[in-house]
Amino acid sequence: MWLPPSPYAARAMETIGKPFDKASRFDQQAMVCGQCHVEYHFDGPNKAVKFPWDNGMKVEDMEKYYDAITFADWVNPLSKTPMLKAQHPEYETWAGGIHGKNNVTCIDCHMPKVQNAEGKMYTSHKIGNPFDSFEQTCVNCHTQDKATLQNIVAERKEAIRVLKLKVEDQIVRAHFEAKAAWDAGAKEEDMKPILMDIRHAQWRWDLAIASHGIHMHAPEEGLRMLGGALDKAADARTKLVRLLASMGITHEIPVPDISTKAKAQAAIGLNMQQIKAEKEDFLKTVVPQWDEQARKNGLLSQ
Ligand code: HEC
Ligand code: HEC
Ligand code: HEC
Repeated sequence: MWLPPSPYAARAMETIGKPFDKASRFDQQAMVCGQCHVEYHFDGPNKAVKFPWDNGMKVEDMEKYYDAITFADWVNPLSKTPMLKAQHPEYETWAGGIHGKNNVTCIDCHMPKVQNAEGKMYTSHKIGNPFDSFEQTCVNCHTQDKATLQNIVAERKEAIRVLKLKVEDQIVRAHFEAKAAWDAGAKEEDMKPILMDIRHAQWRWDLAIASHGIHMHAPEEGLRMLGGALDKAADARTKLVRLLASMGITHEIPVPDISTKAKAQAAIGLNMQQIKAEKEDFLKTVVPQWDEQARKNGLLSQ
């Protein structure tokens, strides 16, 4: 017997044509995890949780949805691009991978049937890396040995890592080149299509990278998204080169040293001292009020 998921997950299942009460056992199992391991945003005046699936679950479908409602999680202070921030879209990427397409769900790999000391079978709730329980997971369906499958997964992880670094380099350059264009007095209407390209490039990169385990769940989709990101970044940078040239700027726009987190924070002008102080203040003033309220409502003991 499966508990129905959260109301927002139930609405999302309706949206993709799999209403929870009529969904197959596979769909229900996957949505147990999917209610949290997904991309979402807060929608409307009541800030209700919504999954951006109205047009589908692919990276382009969700992008189309967010573009249509001109949604942005934040604005990049350098390029002024209205950005999207991907959360943890494991469900969406799994669904597009070979296992998702074959109804092999999160449960099959992450919650295997195991035996206790008395020989009684039970479903493990100790969710972790399925390779740690190889005999109870992969072996149920595959004949290869553990090292072979682990090597395949490791190779895919490496391929994704290499492409990811290339994409990051291109996107970072695009942000700094866009800043240079603004600084040189670029017009809003000239910048708009460029910023859209940057938004779309980073969204593709982010969705691939924020999707933990993508090298296992859907490596082709991960590479496809990163390839798309590279394309979009190239579009942005081609337009930027032309625009900068039209304003007399033909030299390469330098990218400051961002080789460490602290250097990157300084390069984009983040005042970390102030940010840390604000966080401290939040922890000291706001959080105790929440705790107090929770205690009153009987949700927290002591
Ligand atoms: C109520 C929300 C929620 C549900 C439901 C949920 N998860 Fe998670 N899961 C999380 C959060 C939050 C984290 C990150 C925890 C952390 O960083 O400490 C996480 C972490 C994980 C991790 C990484 C664990 C690790 O050791 O690093 C895996 C794997 C995972 N979840 C798989 C699943 C699977 C499979 C299901 C369905 C059976 C599931 N989760 C259901 C919220 C959820
Ligand atoms: C076919 C088996 C399989 C299925 C199905 C599967 N996973 Fe995984 N998942 C794995 C393996 C194996 C890893 C670890 C890969 C590695 O070793 O790098 C993993 C990694 C993860 C991670 C990252 C853990 C970390 O520490 O970084 C999360 C989160 C996760 N899975 C959640 C899910 C969710 C949610 C679903 C369903 C929507 C799902 N998985 C479906 C096999 C599976
Ligand atoms: C419930 C059955 C099931 C389980 C459990 C399962 N798989 Fe699979 N796996 C499949 C099916 C079905 C396919 C698709 C086979 C095909 O098309 O020939 C597949 C395909 C694959 C492929 C080749 C397809 C590709 O991605 O190129 C790999 C690699 C793979 N699985 C790894 C794993 C690993 C690692 C685990 C354990 C963490 C695992 N699988 C667990 C059923 C399963």
